Amino acid sequence: MKDQISVVTGANSGVGFETALMLAEEGGTVVLVCRDQEKGDDALRRIRTQVPNADLRLEIADLANMGEVRELGRKLSSEHPGLHLLVNNAGVYRAGLEKTVDGFERTLAVNHLSHFLLTHLVLPNLLAARGRVLNVSSEAHRRAGLDVESLEAAIRGETRYNGWVAYSDSKLANILFTKELARRYRQEELATCAFHPGVLSTRIWNKNLNPVSLLMVLFKPVMGKPAVGGEAALFLTQEPPEAIHGRYFNKKRERDPSRRADDSRLAEDLWEISLRLTGLAEDPPSRSG
Ligand SMILES: NC(=O)c1ccc[n+]([C@@H]2O[C@H](COP(=O)([O-])OP(=O)(O)OC[C@H]3O[C@@H](n4cnc5c(N)ncnc54)[C@H](OP(=O)(O)O)[C@@H]3O)[C@@H](O)[C@H]2O)c1
Repeated sequence: MKDQISVVTGANSGVGFETALMLAEEGGTVVLVCRDQEKGDDALRRIRTQVPNADLRLEIADLANMGEVRELGRKLSSEHPGLHLLVNNAGVYRAGLEKTVDGFERTLAVNHLSHFLLTHLVLPNLLAARGRVLNVSSEAHRRAGLDVESLEAAIRGETRYNGWVAYSDSKLANILFTKELARRYRQEELATCAFHPGVLSTRIWNKNLNPVSLLMVLFKPVMGKPAVGGEAALFLTQEPPEAIHGRYFNKKRERDPSRRADDSRLAEDLWEISLRLTGLAEDPPSRSG
């Protein structure tokens, strides 16, 4: 991976940090996308302690803000004509309904829409390098309730809110996006897959006070280490394209996702709605060299 350029979102903690660290150990350039400058600087320091010669870049963007995602996409696109790997990892769980500055429900905005938009903005660069897109999903997708009728209302936060359902919906969206991306691009052009990184002791559950989070925090001592998720990501960067394209993995093992995740009409509708809501339908990214 020496000459490769990889981008990891949510790279300052948990699965994203471990993935960035492991990619840095492999060589090549790793771009860490973080929301917070201080946390990002700290992540760079921690990686450099273990990999002194690591070639790291830091990009700051709040993925809940589609304007910032556009800015990030433009910057990555102009600075890296060939992009080999995009790990769409950043994620949130929110107990109560929160709307973003763009008027979207925060979980679906951060976990799905931002990554949908970012992937499109750097698509020419990924295609130029015959790159790879890994979408960090979850086994939670099996509890999702998204359907064709409720898609747009859920993204706009206009359905009855339940934090666990919103999280599960967003993780289903990650797989639907993967499937549709795989349908539109051949594995020789761009390889993509979705994966569950394991049930891991990370900070994702710490940020709310509600029964689900409290239960997760209680179980933290018996959960896996975040490195398990990083190892799965690294494994999926090394498998041949035909072994991963359009597929869903539980860590390193291929699994059938839920029936809803295989619903091609739902995948297509989500794609179209996401194009419209992110403004890509009116303002598609221009092809870079
Ligand atoms: N942990 C598990 O058991 C588990 C299981 C299945 C799937 N997953 C998935 O794994 C992925 C990583 O989660 P994790 O468990 O490693 O949790 P984590 O340690 O909380 O990491 C989440 C990362 O996403 C970033 N992030 C959140 N909101 C953001 C925003 N608006 N803009 C930019 N970055 C943002 C966080 O930044 P801050 O530190 O600034 O908040 C953090 O770097 C998620 O997609 C999650 O759904 C986790």
